[in-house]
Amino acid sequence: MPVSTDLAELIDCFKSAPAPSYKVTNYFPIYADLFGHLRGTACTFVETGVLNGGSLFMWRHWLGPKARIIGVDLNPGAEKWQKAGFEIYIGDQGDPGFWRQTFEKIGTFDVLLDDGGHQSFQQIVTLTEALRAAKTNCIVAVEDTITSLMREFSAHKDHSFLEYAKSSTDILLARMSHFFPNDFPAVRNQKMAEQFSKVESVQFFAGLVAYKIRPHAIERPSLVWNHQPAQDEAAKDFRYNGVNGAQVDWPDLYTQKSLLIQGGKT
Ligand SMILES: C[S@@+](CC[C@H](N)C(=O)[O-])C[C@H]1O[C@@H](n2cnc3c(N)ncnc32)[C@H](O)[C@@H]1O
Repeated sequence: MPVSTDLAELIDCFKSAPAPSYKVTNYFPIYADLFGHLRGTACTFVETGVLNGGSLFMWRHWLGPKARIIGVDLNPGAEKWQKAGFEIYIGDQGDPGFWRQTFEKIGTFDVLLDDGGHQSFQQIVTLTEALRAAKTNCIVAVEDTITSLMREFSAHKDHSFLEYAKSSTDILLARMSHFFPNDFPAVRNQKMAEQFSKVESVQFFAGLVAYKIRPHAIERPSLVWNHQPAQDEAAKDFRYNGVNGAQVDWPDLYTQKSLLIQGGKT
């Protein structure tokens, strides 16, 4: 596969950064795909997790001189990168109050990349507060979601960030619940429906989940015909005329499970 210019240059920027950084290799094509459109623009890129500072340089070199690169870290030592021209905010990403104050200072942003503490509650708080703060189109990408499955990070018990992210894709359906008022269970969790109302899509990659946020562009969808067929012309829908179920392998990470999924109208 040919490597895109965005990707090749990103890897160069990573390797040539004048400070250490440490990334998983499969993230580079994901970054190129998710953030490539921002190169050369006056974008605002926020990364939670500064550590040795290397990724701040990578983003600056790759995105270009107009980009505003912001680092967030709990370690006050990260402030030293202000001298290199980065905006740094020191605070705890698990604290909603910290984010509310910080987003007020940051204003609108194009990307929030979370490479911070990697505990599920921190990732959830960061996403929630970014969604609250988002006023313009942006992406919130949560990195190293493998921690949702790691013993060291298992204090969340069953409520990992990955489980939260998977459930949040159901919440997106709230905007369609008016299609079938008699069939669709009423949306009772208006608070969550509201929280995710700015989310256009949730993309799952190996180790990274990206929320594409469109605060003003998401309409309440409706069902439309291009031309409604006359009654005698309308084709019969064969939906329930095929086989009535299938034995499928369920995508469980730990156990091989074969299940009979029954079909048919209920
Ligand atoms: C994986 S490192 C960041 C690596 C860096 N982004 C890179 O690519 O080189 C994680 C960083 O998150 C910071 N961190 C850990 N817990 C945090 C928290 N609760 N709030 C903010 N930052 C936190 C750590 O101090 C550490 O610098």
